[in-house]
Amino acid sequence: MEATMKKTEDRMTSEQSSALSSGDERVMGKTEASSGREVESPIDEVSKEEQKDERSKDPVKEKQGTKTESKEVLLKAEHISKYFRVSGGRALHAVEDVNLEIYRGETLGLVGESGCGKSTLGRTLMGIYKPTKGKLYYDGKELDLHSTKARFDFTKKAQIVFQDPYASLDSRMTVGSIIEEGMEIHNMYDTAGRKKRVAELLHTVGLNSEHASRFPHEFSGGQRQRIGIARALAIEPEFIVCDEPISALDVSIQAQVINLLRDLQKDMHLTYLFIAHDLNIVKYISDRIAVMYLGSIMELASSEDLYKETLHPYSQALLSAVPIPDPDKETTKQREIISGDVPSPINRPKGCPFSTRCPKATERCKQEMPVLREVRPNHFCACHIV
Ligand SMILES: Nc1ncnc2c1ncn2[C@@H]1O[C@H](COP(=O)(O)OP(=O)(O)O)[C@@H](O)[C@H]1O
Ligand code: SF4
Ligand SMILES: [Mg+2]
Repeated sequence: MEATMKKTEDRMTSEQSSALSSGDERVMGKTEASSGREVESPIDEVSKEEQKDERSKDPVKEKQGTKTESKEVLLKAEHISKYFRVSGGRALHAVEDVNLEIYRGETLGLVGESGCGKSTLGRTLMGIYKPTKGKLYYDGKELDLHSTKARFDFTKKAQIVFQDPYASLDSRMTVGSIIEEGMEIHNMYDTAGRKKRVAELLHTVGLNSEHASRFPHEFSGGQRQRIGIARALAIEPEFIVCDEPISALDVSIQAQVINLLRDLQKDMHLTYLFIAHDLNIVKYISDRIAVMYLGSIMELASSEDLYKETLHPYSQALLSAVPIPDPDKETTKQREIISGDVPSPINRPKGCPFSTRCPKATERCKQEMPVLREVRPNHFCACHIV
């Protein structure tokens, strides 16, 4: 942990370091409270009856994003769907039939436009949401997501860092109690041990032990996100869902938080699902990237392969919209403009979810949902024409 702290500070500018050590600077006025962990909406989940059409296909045989090679699979999602009940009793298909494996120690990036289901998938994979359909396996064992105890036990292994460092920390609690809460819930350490651990964790994330007695509103966005990271680390998880952890931060602070996450991963052998809509950041931090559209995974490959040989028409359009830092290349590059709007997840197209906007769509695309299959070694794509 010492090493993490040192390495991260080494990469900060002196201005950034002094901003961190002062503690009181960049005091933000926003003090809205939240429970610290986002909770499921009161909207009911889809009934058991609707789960009966559970697909019986073997996802491993279909090889939907499941090439394991010699890597150890930490988390495996099998035909995971998550629907929300919305007005009129209709089902909103936030996540649809996702098959995914996350390897121990890797960072899997998850990208896609706002509303495509990234957060819902992240929360479902870590047991905050009970999937409407499908199964989850952790460390080779199926998780009984209908058992409260099993889900509770799983929260000891899987944690989340939320997007909004302002809303995700309870403003009525001190920083120390926020970080300590998870340890208390999971009966870790005695009171003195927890206090000691809080001090260590604050140090690990680049804050100091005196910050434990302060309140979240006394900190800047970047510092609050460090508190959120310390809270996630407190119960020594193996898997962390980083749900757009830097999108709400100033650009100058973003690199610090990314560097901290990378250092922590190395030192603590963490596995990340890193959710973002900024493709440049995802490319920088991820070993592999999954591209999501309307609740489904469209393409999955190593970061390098995805950028070198983008196969899916949606990924191509998404990547062509990313600015290139070279002005010559940027002015000459061909952009693919996707026309039309994303369809409603309440009324998903029957076939390929992208068929209403895809310039290459055929009649088959409108009728038949393409399966995510391995089209190149370790490169998976859900498209009829690839
Ligand atoms: N608790 C909820 N109740 C109803 N609909 C939800 C809920 N959470 C998310 N949604 C809907 O699910 C879809 C996916 O949302 P989300 O997972 O937040 O997407 P992203 O993180 O990619 O922006 C959106 O249409 C969103 O409105
Ligand atoms: S399956 Fe058809 S509609 Fe979907 S991305 Fe491929 S070509 Fe486009
Ligand atoms: Mg989100």
